[in-house]
Amino acid sequence: MTHDVKSTAKLSLDGKEFDLPVYSPSVGPDVVDISKLYAQADVFTYDPGFTSTAACDSAITFIDGAKGELLYRGYPIDQLAEKSHFLEVCYLLLYGELPDAAKLTDFVQRVTRHTMLHDQMGHFFRGFRRDAHPMAIVCGVVGALSSFYHDSTDINDPEQREIASIRLIAKIPTITAWAYKYSIGQPFVYPQNDLDYASNFLNMCFAVPAEPYVVDPILSRAMDRIFTLHADHEQNASTSTVRLAGSSGANPFACIAAGVACLWGPAHGGANEAALSMLREIGTVDRIPEYIARAKDKSDPFRLMGFGHRVYKNFDPRAKVMKESADEVLALLGVENNPTLQVAKELERIALNDPYFIEKKLYPNVDFYSGIILDAMGFPTSMFTPIFALARTVGWIAQWKEMISDPTQKIGRPRQLYTGETFRDYVDVENR
Ligand code: CMC
Repeated sequence: MTHDVKSTAKLSLDGKEFDLPVYSPSVGPDVVDISKLYAQADVFTYDPGFTSTAACDSAITFIDGAKGELLYRGYPIDQLAEKSHFLEVCYLLLYGELPDAAKLTDFVQRVTRHTMLHDQMGHFFRGFRRDAHPMAIVCGVVGALSSFYHDSTDINDPEQREIASIRLIAKIPTITAWAYKYSIGQPFVYPQNDLDYASNFLNMCFAVPAEPYVVDPILSRAMDRIFTLHADHEQNASTSTVRLAGSSGANPFACIAAGVACLWGPAHGGANEAALSMLREIGTVDRIPEYIARAKDKSDPFRLMGFGHRVYKNFDPRAKVMKESADEVLALLGVENNPTLQVAKELERIALNDPYFIEKKLYPNVDFYSGIILDAMGFPTSMFTPIFALARTVGWIAQWKEMISDPTQKIGRPRQLYTGETFRDYVDVENR
């Protein structure tokens, strides 16, 4: 994409001056374009962890970390969580605008018609060990979609890109629910297309052939809200992974599988599982000070899981909605005195008043309360990250599509600050 040059930054190096164009985004900090720097000055920039690097143009999601603001296509997350629903949010992320009623109906219908998996995929699931982590299964099965749906892997054909996108959004709940069913030894439940997206997912997870199962609308609404809150988050680790994989021309199913793999780590999507395990380990309110002390101790690797964020230096706006949802769901289920929720609330209160957390601007993130809701709904901790992956699939796809349709896109290829040996001659084994 071409940009208007707002001003010029100057770099002085070894007695020479280099002009670097500065561009303004629609909102957020300006960026200094260093893309020609190596050619002009024979130097690289150095930014491990990409803390100061904008790697692409994007018009999908905006985060103001200082304010604690998250916008999807300009709309604030709390308004979307309250007034919209997940499939409408999917449309918004994919196509840039809220749909009118006819477009929404058409989109919902298109997604709904693709919820079934190729029948042979059932055999594919059965190849996994019963005790496999559902995240391992989701990662494997999403990657395997490219071996089942050959007619939507040509990334140069916009129609195939569109079909692959719809297929991924439609099938990921089925894949995730089946990963769960397989891990507990229950038969797979087929998608039921008269149910909405979240209810269908709950039904595939919790229904059994032996008795009727009716999805509670309040639980379904809470599930839908969890999906909405996780749908996209600009250039985080897994999204950047999807973009990097996609930049080589890999097919969409392979790229999304790469995103699932990256999401699994405890510093990213795996934090919801880790946060609930931590809250349970703390167990009672009187043990909180011990864990706060451990989190502050530099010689102890322990961190408060569900706390802190690379971008948010204020409340994660998703955590606020999640906390309200936790109160609602637990009240509905009659477990508002849930000891884990009590520990979470007290831990939050203590940490937010502790100078260490205040100074480092560490606030609860989206994962702090989501595990409590999912646990109350009946999901085991191993399902938390797969549910995050389900919800984030639309964000990954929207970002991947945006990248593929950008004519200036090229393969991602970072450089390095090499610290290894310099040139040396090979020595035969008998002389070493
Ligand atoms: N508990 C205790 N100390 C912390 C924590 C924490 N949760 N998070 C950061 N710190 C400290 C850290 O030790 C460092 O201290 P110092 O400056 O003295 O070395 C300082 O705060 C800055 O931390 P950082 O690791 O340099 O910051 P980062 O931007 O690289 O890390 C993070 C962000 C999310 C990986 C980190 O805050 C963390 O590990 N949090 C716990 C895991 C978690 O909840 N992850 C979910 C993130 S939200 C969902 C998602 O996006 O996937």
